[in-house]
Amino acid sequence: MDLQHTMGLYSTLLVMALLLSGTTATVKRRAHFNDTADLPCQFTNPQNISLSELVVFWQDQEKLVLYEQYLGKEKPDNVDAKYVSRTSFDRENWVLHLHRVQIKDQGLYQCFIHHKRPKGLVHIHQKNCDLSVFANFSQPEIKQISNMTGRSDINLTCSSIRGYPEPKEMYFLYKTENATTKPGVFMEKSQDNGTELYNVSISLSFLVPHETNNVSLICVLQPEPPETELHSEPFSIGPKPIDSPRTDRNHILQIAGFTLLSLVIVCWAVLLLKKLIRLMREKQQPDRSHEGHECETIRVEEEESQKTEERVEGQAPERSDEEHSAL
Ligand SMILES: *[C@@H]1O[C@H](CO)[C@@H](O)[C@H](O)[C@H]1NC(C)=O
Ligand SMILES: *[C@@H]1O[C@H](CO)[C@@H](O)[C@H](O)[C@H]1NC(C)=O
Ligand SMILES: *[C@@H]1O[C@H](CO)[C@@H](O)[C@H](O)[C@H]1NC(C)=O
Ligand SMILES: *[C@@H]1O[C@H](CO)[C@@H](O)[C@H](O)[C@H]1NC(C)=O
Ligand SMILES: *[C@@H]1O[C@H](CO)[C@@H](O)[C@H](O)[C@H]1NC(C)=O
Ligand SMILES: *[C@@H]1O[C@H](CO)[C@@H](O)[C@H](O)[C@H]1NC(C)=O
Ligand SMILES: *[C@@H]1O[C@H](CO)[C@@H](O)[C@H](O)[C@H]1NC(C)=O
Ligand SMILES: *[C@@H]1O[C@H](CO)[C@@H](O)[C@H](O)[C@H]1NC(C)=O
Repeated sequence: MDLQHTMGLYSTLLVMALLLSGTTATVKRRAHFNDTADLPCQFTNPQNISLSELVVFWQDQEKLVLYEQYLGKEKPDNVDAKYVSRTSFDRENWVLHLHRVQIKDQGLYQCFIHHKRPKGLVHIHQKNCDLSVFANFSQPEIKQISNMTGRSDINLTCSSIRGYPEPKEMYFLYKTENATTKPGVFMEKSQDNGTELYNVSISLSFLVPHETNNVSLICVLQPEPPETELHSEPFSIGPKPIDSPRTDRNHILQIAGFTLLSLVIVCWAVLLLKKLIRLMREKQQPDRSHEGHECETIRVEEEESQKTEERVEGQAPERSDEEHSAL
């Protein structure tokens, strides 16, 4: 009888110890900055105890109370100021929602459940939850910093803002026609005092590539896993113009064109003069001499056709008058 009782008590204690050790294992939760974090209590309520017989509360690692249910009623008295109106209790699933999560909310949370019995409150359940908070960095953005005068360097910075935690790595990929390189850079970071979010940036300065080199860069941000890599839009730099620039060639072409035109006009004038002289001679003696061809290289269509006409109807004296009036 006595032995049985002792054994019974012993086994009950053992079971309780096992239950407690099993339930106090810490669960991990992640939440995005300014979103809602779930702090689970993972209470299965095997005896289907009514909430009106329970005291349920969550506290943070500084033992500040986030929320309390006291025998079926919310009890705000013990709730710390920083958690007022930031929580809601999901009584179906025994989860506490913590809203507008801040970076400083990271840490350990504990949920306790006590059962009110005639002899007093009995601790029946506990769950620890480790909360980490992250914030997605913005898409990295490459910008060109205005030149220092007289230098043909290109100066780029890439920045990404309002993320957490500090990223694992940030770098440029420098792509030429044949190769991709990863120049060494130093990541600058600044942290906001209030939100604790990071802004990060890297910069790179290099010479404008030569004519054969097209260059494009992308900026990569690798946040702490499990977050995925972020890539900037590519930034392309065309090849540097050749040293004897096109404007020079254009100038040469302009001069050449102008010279050609002048030559044509001069030739035209010479021909006209010659024709005039010839015509005057023809009026005196119908016998024609062959005309000169100084300007043969420049073929002026009108002149050409006139000549052929002359050859075909060469002997007709009326033609001379027509030609004369046409001129
Ligand atoms: C947090 O979210 C609210 C809307 O849910 C928004 O108004 C506020 O600007 C956000 N705060 C920050 C710091 O992003
Ligand atoms: C638990 O108790 C409530 C009443 O307090 C009852 O409505 C419900 O059916 C019970 N659930 C189980 C699983 O016994
Ligand atoms: C590029 O930018 C950095 C940081 O702003 C500056 O220190 C450096 O002098 C700049 N280089 C050139 C060539 O403008
Ligand atoms: C940088 O300098 C080079 C040469 O001085 C010039 O051709 C280029 O337009 C400049 N770029 C900017 C963004 O000022
Ligand atoms: C890229 O490779 C081609 C063929 O291998 C070569 O002709 C060219 O010069 C290379 N370009 C650069 C920028 O190295
Ligand atoms: C981060 O960048 C944003 C946007 O450029 C700026 O408003 C904010 O002040 C920066 N914060 C820090 C800590 O540098
Ligand atoms: C450079 O890129 C332009 C268009 O992006 C392309 O038309 C050109 O052929 C490229 N030049 C070389 C040398 O790859
Ligand atoms: C953060 O980025 C991940 C992808 O890395 C995305 O799935 C998630 O929706 C983003 N969260 C917010 C709040 O923007």
